Amino acid sequence: MASVGHSEFRAAQLKKRLKRFYQTVTKILRRYLMRSSPPSSRGSRPSGHPREAIVVHAGLSFSERPHGLTVFCRGTLLPRAIGMPLTAANVRLRPAIAADIPELHRLIELSVRRLQASDYTPAQIEGALGHALGLDTQLVADGTYFVAELATADGSPQIVGCGGWSNRRTLFGSDGGPNRQSELLDPKTDAAKIRAIFVHPDFARRGLGTLILKHCEEAAASAGFTRLEMGSTLTGVPLYKLKGYEEREAINIPLPNGEVLPVVKMTKELADPGSKLPPD
Ligand SMILES: CC(C)(COP(=O)(O)OP(=O)(O)OC[C@H]1O[C@@H](n2cnc3c(N)ncnc32)[C@H](O)[C@@H]1OP(=O)(O)O)[C@@H](O)C(=O)NCCC(=O)NCCS
Repeated sequence: MASVGHSEFRAAQLKKRLKRFYQTVTKILRRYLMRSSPPSSRGSRPSGHPREAIVVHAGLSFSERPHGLTVFCRGTLLPRAIGMPLTAANVRLRPAIAADIPELHRLIELSVRRLQASDYTPAQIEGALGHALGLDTQLVADGTYFVAELATADGSPQIVGCGGWSNRRTLFGSDGGPNRQSELLDPKTDAAKIRAIFVHPDFARRGLGTLILKHCEEAAASAGFTRLEMGSTLTGVPLYKLKGYEEREAINIPLPNGEVLPVVKMTKELADPGSKLPPD
């Protein structure tokens, strides 16, 4: 009996060690597989990264009956791994909630620092973060700010983008931004604002910005707005032009550190108010 007890104890110990080993192997592999893509050059779609394409879980599993040790390697195809387009089929858009706010701050900062690096100087970016660029939590409270989530290998969603629209007068900026005007707009006479679309740099140029923009336009249209406007960063201009926005006015935003951030006021008329926007 004692020897059975001892072997059971040994088996349990071994199982524990194997489990730890499995967890470590999985963690290391996942870290390697999920690590950041090299930044894409402006104007070109990032190439695929085949090493990220398949293996997400790998390790050893231990079974008691019959005793056995299995080395396994399970594959999961991640959209970012092969530069797959991000569409409504693999991305979930939902209204942002207060609990998302810390993650949104992180995402926005990352997006600004990496994706705007060729449009603004480091000093402009430093001065603009938390001022002209950042999260406006009023939109979260209003239910007009959205997060874009992608399922990861372990099933937990990762926020890969965000953006919103607003029926308030503020044109751009974070909670600490300039010219905040919280009055409500009238859909009959005013243009709804498209606000703060930010994409995680690892997921840029896969259609995510387009997807978020379309979602915001549809939400504004269903609230009765027929005109849209925004204060676009220089980085956002090519996307918005492509989606029918026209450049109206250059705006130079003075920043708290003495720098100036050039942005562009852009507008768009919704062609057929109330109807669904055409697919992209
Ligand atoms: C602007 C931004 C939201 C675009 O997001 P995205 O997911 O990369 O955009 P999409 O993949 O939907 O782009 C669709 C098309 O827009 C154009 N486009 C988008 N970004 C572009 C860029 N940096 N340079 C040139 N064209 C660009 C391209 O025609 C692109 O199609 P393609 O990739 O097949 O060439 C993203 O770059 C971002 O988050 N930037 C930092 C934050 C920011 O400045 N946001 C704008 C706030 S107003």
